[in-house]
Amino acid sequence: MEKINKKIVIKDNLGRKIVGIFSTTSNCSNLPMIVLCHGFTSSKNSRTSIQLEKELNKKNIATFRFDFFGHGESDGKFENITISKAVDNIFCVINHWHELGFIDIGLFGSSFGGIASIIASSYNPFVKLLVLKAPVSDYYEVTNIRKSVHDIKNWNTNGFTMHLNSLGDEKKLNYSFYSDFKNHDVYCLAKNIDVPTLIVHGDRDKTVPVSQSKKLAGFIKDCQLNIIAGADHKFSESDDFINMIKVVTKYIGKHISSTIHDEKFKKIWNLATPYLKKGLKKDFLLHTQGVVRAVELIAPKEGGDLDLLIPAAILHDVGWAGVPKEYQITKSKQKQTEGLKMHIELAPKIIKKILEQLNYRESKISQIIDIVQSHKFCVPTKINQKILIDADHTSDSFKEQFESDVVSYKTAAPELHQFRMTESDFYTKTARELFLSQMKVRREEFIEIFHQKHCSFNHTI
Ligand SMILES: [Fe+2]
Ligand SMILES: [Fe+2]
Repeated sequence: MEKINKKIVIKDNLGRKIVGIFSTTSNCSNLPMIVLCHGFTSSKNSRTSIQLEKELNKKNIATFRFDFFGHGESDGKFENITISKAVDNIFCVINHWHELGFIDIGLFGSSFGGIASIIASSYNPFVKLLVLKAPVSDYYEVTNIRKSVHDIKNWNTNGFTMHLNSLGDEKKLNYSFYSDFKNHDVYCLAKNIDVPTLIVHGDRDKTVPVSQSKKLAGFIKDCQLNIIAGADHKFSESDDFINMIKVVTKYIGKHISSTIHDEKFKKIWNLATPYLKKGLKKDFLLHTQGVVRAVELIAPKEGGDLDLLIPAAILHDVGWAGVPKEYQITKSKQKQTEGLKMHIELAPKIIKKILEQLNYRESKISQIIDIVQSHKFCVPTKINQKILIDADHTSDSFKEQFESDVVSYKTAAPELHQFRMTESDFYTKTARELFLSQMKVRREEFIEIFHQKHCSFNHTI
């Protein structure tokens, strides 16, 4: 397929434009995606962003490189930029792509884009991976390298300073940029980051000392720090730049690619899709993607076998394809139970047909069927059975599934939330924690929507 390179305009909460370039070489809607965040006074067209776009697209990973507030083509005056505004931009961008169905989203942040990415990752549940290139962690230290105490005092007195970028251009920058630093204790926030993280930093960086990244790495749970000997802040030397791009691309390729995109699982997914589309109770394609994602998050921590669990997750609800409509969409409890029983009884035949077509061994097919058949009306004894049941329930808490279920079940978010909280039970600690943290966010979302409606109602009267 030819490369898609499309300009996208996203609006922030105040209606201001955030302009970026979406790029992919595949028309698949649920590709993994990396959002590329540039450095201070740079833009979406930085050398790093362009090169990463090229390398990641080759790996079937979509990219979105965008201009921060006051940079490039995005709205806002440069002099009014703050870290808080950059973090807000990242949230808007991630929410935009998440709402469009991208579930595997990673963040890449360079220098200033790095500090904004650290903060965004510390409390955005949709960020699955974080990569930082010479990130700023402590802006006070970075500023003190460039400016004397007297300069900073004058900045405060005048309300602005003239910022000199690396190309020698001067730009007005308001004191609000400096005073906004205090709102962000980056090292403290880094403790909340629980996604795989890579930091690349040159040990000859004179703009942001490498000591900041060494300290930062100590606060992040799952962090790989690559110090590139001899490299400066911009990885100016060609060898350093190539090396940095290689390290970053390899790490992203290893950590972001959802198993659903692996060739061997993609074939199962493609064969399962027509059956999943026949399920009427809800959006089974979305549900199945969520279950696969939950399995990916739970299995590694609970000792599950992904080679069996991913096919089982993709195929666990194919049985609904054979359940008559009156047993899928019904208010009768008895018929609902009969429908559930049917989707379990009908599944093995379909699973066998699909997996035989892909030359799966009979013993492996039996193991997958065993996991699928245990996901209802059964007390599981094996860890893989427990993980699939837990993933099935955990996926209900993901934003896209939760919102879709509100529509499918013709209910309201608070009611569905209460129902899920009382009805969901878990066998594994990982699933329970994931479910509860997601449900907390879902609750905050509908409370926020309630407040927005309430406020606009007050304005109209
Ligand atoms: Fe099911
Ligand atoms: Fe299910």
